[in-house]
Amino acid sequence: MGGAISINKLRKKNKSKHTRTIQRYEKKTDDVKEPLKYYLANFMKDTDIMVLLHFLGRYLFQSIHNAPVEEILTNENCKVLDVGCGAGTWLLESATLYRSSSFLGIDLCTVYPAEIKPDNVEFMQVDVLNGLPFEDNTYDYVHQGNMVEVYTIEQWNFIISELIRVCKPGGYIEFTEPELAPKTGPILKRFYDALIELSESRNVRIRMYRNLIKILNSTQTVHNIESKVAIVPLGMKKGGNVGQTYLEVHDGFFLNDPMPETMSKIMNLSRQEYFDLFDEAKQEIEKGVAPDCEIYRIWCQKKI
Ligand SMILES: C[S@@+](CC[C@H](N)C(=O)[O-])C[C@H]1O[C@@H](n2cnc3c(N)ncnc32)[C@H](O)[C@@H]1O
Repeated sequence: MGGAISINKLRKKNKSKHTRTIQRYEKKTDDVKEPLKYYLANFMKDTDIMVLLHFLGRYLFQSIHNAPVEEILTNENCKVLDVGCGAGTWLLESATLYRSSSFLGIDLCTVYPAEIKPDNVEFMQVDVLNGLPFEDNTYDYVHQGNMVEVYTIEQWNFIISELIRVCKPGGYIEFTEPELAPKTGPILKRFYDALIELSESRNVRIRMYRNLIKILNSTQTVHNIESKVAIVPLGMKKGGNVGQTYLEVHDGFFLNDPMPETMSKIMNLSRQEYFDLFDEAKQEIEKGVAPDCEIYRIWCQKKI
């Protein structure tokens, strides 16, 4: 799959407080300059969307992390924490790649593997909103992915202070999140508007990119804040295989329970009308009237 995609770096912006890089992924059939490190797996339709999102991110960024931790993870006995680890996909891959480091995943739900896992990874059931049950300055690298729908804006402030607290001075903290596209076709826009309304009713901010950077800056305890944004045109017509893969994640997000139940109420639709309208949105996307979706990574270093 990966051979059909070429990566064009469109623009690079340097800002005073943090550095932001944007890459756009375009459907092309030629000129892959060098072999890619990671390719997209060819998934079955019903595969867990979070696992699919992990492999999509790995492909888009050609890495499972952007913080400059490669050397310490490879050569030192690093301690790594993944907060809200879910099924542990990121951790299991990290633990397999970096055998000399040790990894801990924490989550409220025990969806992670209990026994079949590399021996340098452990999991623990933790409600992170009660605070992280670790001493200050414990971890060399703290990672958190796809939690944008989980925390209210106040909880983000608390969680970030906790992530920084448990990170060692000089250690790194990294976030990876999707960002709802700014522009879309008129039918899909109805779903996006309803999602924003639903999120705001819970005091959850669905577009967190700027806020995350703002919160990190406001802590005064981290520096070297950097980010990278991957732009993926949604669907096969506009985005090729990558766009099609993102579409599967996107479908899962809007169609898996309990979203249809909750969203249809906000949109004043019956459950069936919700599914019918989503079909129309899919047709809109298939015609190429599709949003440019974004996945971003933000990383920073705890001050010494
Ligand atoms: C969208 S999933 C992301 C999982 C994983 N990080 C990934 O990228 O695949 C959100 C995760 O947050 C976990 N979660 C929600 N509230 C939590 C809490 N208060 N404490 C710990 N984990 C929580 C959920 O159980 C779920 O596994």
